[in-house]
Parts: sequence; structure tokens; C-alpha cells
Amino acid sequence: MLSVQDRAIVKSTVPLLESGGEALITHFYRMMLSEYPEVRPLFNQAHQASGDQPRALANGVLMYARHIDQLDQLGDLVAKIINKHVALQILPEHYPIVGKCLLRAIAEVLGEEIATPEVIAAWAAAYGQLADILIGAEKSIYDQKEQAPGGWRGAREFIVVAKVEESAEITSFYFEPADKGPILAAEPGQYIGMKLILDGEEIRRNYSLSALANKGQYRISVKRETGGRASNHLHDQLQVGASIQLFPPSGEFTLSASDKPLVLISGGVGITPTLAMLEAALQTERPVHFIHCARNGSVHAFRDWIDGLAERHPQLKRFYCYAEDDGVSPAAHKVGMLSQEQLAAWLPEERDLDAYFLGPKGFMAAVKRHLKALGVPEKQSRYEFFGPASALE
Ligand SMILES: Cc1cc2nc3c(=O)[nH]c(=O)nc-3n(C[C@H](O)[C@H](O)[C@H](O)COP(=O)(O)OP(=O)(O)OC[C@H]3O[C@@H](n4cnc5c(N)ncnc54)[C@H](O)[C@@H]3O)c2cc1C
Ligand code: HEM
Repeated sequence: MLSVQDRAIVKSTVPLLESGGEALITHFYRMMLSEYPEVRPLFNQAHQASGDQPRALANGVLMYARHIDQLDQLGDLVAKIINKHVALQILPEHYPIVGKCLLRAIAEVLGEEIATPEVIAAWAAAYGQLADILIGAEKSIYDQKEQAPGGWRGAREFIVVAKVEESAEITSFYFEPADKGPILAAEPGQYIGMKLILDGEEIRRNYSLSALANKGQYRISVKRETGGRASNHLHDQLQVGASIQLFPPSGEFTLSASDKPLVLISGGVGITPTLAMLEAALQTERPVHFIHCARNGSVHAFRDWIDGLAERHPQLKRFYCYAEDDGVSPAAHKVGMLSQEQLAAWLPEERDLDAYFLGPKGFMAAVKRHLKALGVPEKQSRYEFFGPASALE
């Protein structure tokens, strides 16, 4: 338990961390990644470079410090952190490394005058408390995933059993376990972690499951990123018959049971988790509006599959919006950016609906704004990031 004095000290440093938080965390990362090479594979270099990951962690630490008296007020932040950590296999032995670097960064950035031994001791106690909460929660998820039917712990070897080009940029990979055993069920919307060794260096990435995992297989669909290490390797090198190391599915951006109308809105490769959600929803009676935005038809994946579903399931209405008309591909229902007026026309009349959306950050910020303006309750409008969480406003 934190002492009353430690709490007071931690809370009093929140304004300082708010003004200098990013510098602190950037400093912390630099120190950790250079001095502790064993944790380097866990962190995505691109997320570091964009500043999103330092910002997400700074936000996590600040939120925690702000709510140190009422940790239940942290809402779904803790669940998000835990899911990200579990998907990348963050383990108890990693916490002391982060703790040591965080405290050294506090001391170095704030300077001796502010970062007195009392301040450092209070932060050490506070970090220890938060680390214990996360380690405990993560352990129970690792245990559950290992003990569940088809479950496992850590990395498990899978084999690529099919590779399908879905568009000019997106390719799907179907995986079955090398041991031919059952696989862990996944909720629609969840993602797997992947461990790759490229040029002798380990990297880890997450990929959403783009289909229900009910045939003893997982499917992911990967967009080729210009200059991207994992995606180009998967597209160019990972062929049918190859083996790959996967961590168990994880994630809290999952389809909740409900009979309200369901609206799935995606931009580009953000379509992947909504495909699994769509498959699950069509096993019920609920109306589904599937709205997808792509740059143009050549990069629009899964169009034929969704059109086929719409023919067989009258409860499904689908709408496609292309930023540009390439003059070759099948036409979209709308050309241009997804405006509020267009979204209003494509939503069900009933605004007591459940919306799930994912895509590039600017797209998600616009969708969030539009849904709010159109009367969709904020609690029923959910989204995920294909990277560290960041503010959408
Ligand atoms: C929960 C979740 C689910 C996801 N689901 C999917 C999915 O279903 N499908 C999918 O395609 N992706 C998905 N992603 C994204 C995926 O995990 C990878 O981030 C993506 O494939 C890019 O990885 P990469 O290794 O190819 O690119 P990276 O090597 O990470 O590079 C990404 C971009 O950053 C640039 N870059 C890299 N390093 C630096 C640097 N040091 N400085 C500046 N720029 C740099 C690269 O040139 C490239 O443009 C998901 C991510 C998350 C977190
Ligand atoms: C109390 C300690 C910690 C806190 C408060 C914390 C907080 C966070 C937060 C807020 C995120 C972003 C979540 C999101 O994107 O939704 C995150 C992601 C992550 N954390 Fe932690 N974390 C802690 C400890 C650790 C440790 C010990 C490690 C491993 C050394 C670690 C590795 C990671 C990684 C690899 C990611 C994903 C990074 C990415 O997407 O690029 N974290 N953490």
C-alpha cells in the first residue's frame, strides 16, 4: 500500500509531468532501448519514431498518477494496456527494467532540486503498485489462455496453409498449428501477436483476425506498408508451408452481444476486425450496416465477399466510399471523403445503435465526430488503433 505521503507527493508532481511528460518519457525510452537490448524487440521502432508510443505511455502514467486515490476511475485504460501487453508477451521480469529507467529519467529530467530522494521514493512505490496491478492481471490472462481449450502460453508454431491476394495492397494468410492440435477461440475483433526474426533481429507485431477462428485456422490480412519490415516480409517471403510463431489472440475491441442495429465503419486495412464482427453478427438477426472507405477500387479488399453476403443476408446493407474514381474498378456508392451527410444517409434511422470503427487516425477522428453529431450515444461508438492509442479529438 502506498502511504498517504507518497500519494500526496505523486499527485503533486502530476502538473510537472504534464508539462514535461513527453520529454521525460522520450528520455526514458532512449535509456531503456540502449541499455537493455533484451526489451528492444518488444517495441515497434516506427511507433517510437512517430512519438505515439512515448505519448501513450506518458498518458498512462499521468492518468494513473492523477487517479492514484481512485484507481477504479481509470476506466478501460488499464484493460487496454493489459491487452496490448498480453498480445506482445510482456512478462514480470520486464517491469523492473521499465521501473529503473523511469525513475532514472525522472531524476535526470527534473533535476536534483525537484526530484528529491522523497519524490523518487514516492514514485518508486507508486510504480511498484501499478506494476503489481498489471503483472497480476496479465498473469491471470496468460493462465486463462494457457488453460482454455486449444490454448497455449508464449509463442506457438503455426504453418501457413493458404495465402490469398485480396487487393493490390492486402494479402490474407491462413495459419494452422504445426502440432495439428485445436486452437484457442477468439472473439470477433481480437488480434494475434507475431514474432519474426528478420536479419537476425527479433521483431513483434499485432494483426487482427480477419475471420472467425472456427475452422481450426486463424486468418490475418496484411497491408503492405512502404518501407515496413514485417508486412513486406510477409508479402514477399512468407509462402504456403512456411512456419511462423504466434502468441494467443487478445484484445478488448470485441463485438458485444446486443440486438441493436450494428454499424461497422472502416477505412483501408482497418476493415480486418470488422470482417470477423460481420461474420459473427450475421449468425444473429440484428441489422448490420457495413460502411467501407478505400482510396479506390484497386485497393478495396473483400468487396466480392461482402457483396455475396449481402445477397444472401437481407439484414446486411453495405456502402462503399472511394476517395477517388480510378475509372477502372467497380463504382463506389460515393466518391470523395466520408462526410457527415453521407454517413447520415447510410446509418439506420434508429440512432440507438452500436458502432465500431477503425481506419487511419484522421478518418477515425472524423467518424467519431460525425457519429456524435448524428446522435449516436458516445458509449455505443467504439474504436481501435492499429498502433499505440492516442487522442482522437
Ligand atoms: C491491435 C493491432 C491490430 C493490427 N491489425 C492489423 C491488420 O489487421 N492488418 C495490417 O496490415 N496491420 C495491422 N496492424 C498494424 C501492424 O501491426 C503493423 O504495424 C504493420 O503491418 C506495419 O508493420 P511493418 O513492420 O510492416 O512496418 P514498420 O517497419 O513498423 O514501419 C511502419 C512505417 O513506419 C516507417 N518507419 C519504420 N521505422 C521507422 C523509423 N525508425 N523512423 C521513421 N519511420 C519509420 C516505415 O517506413 C513504414 O512506413 C495492427 C496493429 C495493431 C496494434
Ligand atoms: C507500470 C508500467 C507500465 C505502464 C503504465 C504501461 C503503459 C502502456 C500504455 C499506456 C501503452 C499503450 C496502450 C495502447 O496503445 O492502447 C503500452 C503499450 C506497450 N507497453 Fe507498456 N506499460 C508499462 C509497462 C511495460 C513494460 C514493463 C513493458 C516491457 C518492457 C511494456 C511494453 C509495452 C509495449 C511493447 C507496448 C506496445 C507498444 C507499441 O504499440 O508500439 N510496458 N504500455
